[in-house]
Amino acid sequence: MPNEISKAIVPAAGLGTRLLPATKSQPKEMLPVGRKPVVQYVIEELQAAGLNQMLIITGRRKRAIEDHFDPDPMLLSALEQAGNEALLSELSFIQRNTRFFYTRQSSPRGLGHAVGLGADFVDDDDCVVALGDSLIAGEDPAAPVRAMLHTHQDLKAAAVIAVEQVPADEAHRYGVVSIKGAEPPPGEPVVLTDIIEKPPRGTAPSNLAVAARYVFSPAIFEALGRTPPDRQGEIQLTDAIKSLIQMGQPVYAWPLRADQRRYDVGNFESYFRTFIDLVLADERYGYLARQYIKAKAYEL
Ligand code: UTP
Repeated sequence: MPNEISKAIVPAAGLGTRLLPATKSQPKEMLPVGRKPVVQYVIEELQAAGLNQMLIITGRRKRAIEDHFDPDPMLLSALEQAGNEALLSELSFIQRNTRFFYTRQSSPRGLGHAVGLGADFVDDDDCVVALGDSLIAGEDPAAPVRAMLHTHQDLKAAAVIAVEQVPADEAHRYGVVSIKGAEPPPGEPVVLTDIIEKPPRGTAPSNLAVAARYVFSPAIFEALGRTPPDRQGEIQLTDAIKSLIQMGQPVYAWPLRADQRRYDVGNFESYFRTFIDLVLADERYGYLARQYIKAKAYEL
């Protein structure tokens, strides 16, 4: 079945407090992971999944994101004149038949609030939501979203949400889901029966955490509209998903396969892990990085 969904919302307006001072004057979504900023991985993944209209939710100190996706005619003609085909092809993510739109979230009132700002852009269509600080690694990083889009259309879902296994003692950091049945079937949809944002330590209903990729029908915007802010004053996307479930709407989890992995740059520990793993896997510099780390390991 052809993929009829063309729109994606990429929330990138969070403060990135946990990454200070690195994020004092630059967005965390622009932190480099190897040779590219993290948000470029996200956009390239969405392009490879067949999406060509991107709404990036930005905010104060986030202008570098707009500059990054804006064609730079002077730079391009300088590279063309120099005959630098290699660097020109590195910049092709800007030109690939993609339209970029931007909306500002003036104060970071939560991920749900950020996604809600995309209501007019999405209109009556279905859409993907992909967090701007999280990338999917694997041989084909677009495979999960592509499969989730098919699931969404085949099952006429209200939401399909990527999930992944996390260690039990880390579940309190994530949105955690309950599913129908005991074992999550990797790479296949399963009915999602409940979802809770950052459950207190030791109370998580499972170790399946929401993994930064979602496909939604427009019903999510009505749900967000009736979702009250939490105690911190933030509107949580997980609360809106929970209300879809409570209204009897079809909501599915889509467990990532073992060879697909979500990385986020939300804190230094996971940023460093992301950087190291992606550099080691880099087709151009991975070999050098592996040599260096092997030599270094003797000193540790
Ligand atoms: P996080 O949950 O990591 O929050 O955001 P944060 O505010 O960016 O970081 P800290 O807690 O201050 O360190 C996950 C994704 O959702 C976006 C972020 O930009 C990030 O890509 N987000 C979060 C928004 O767009 N708006 C918000 O109000 C919150």
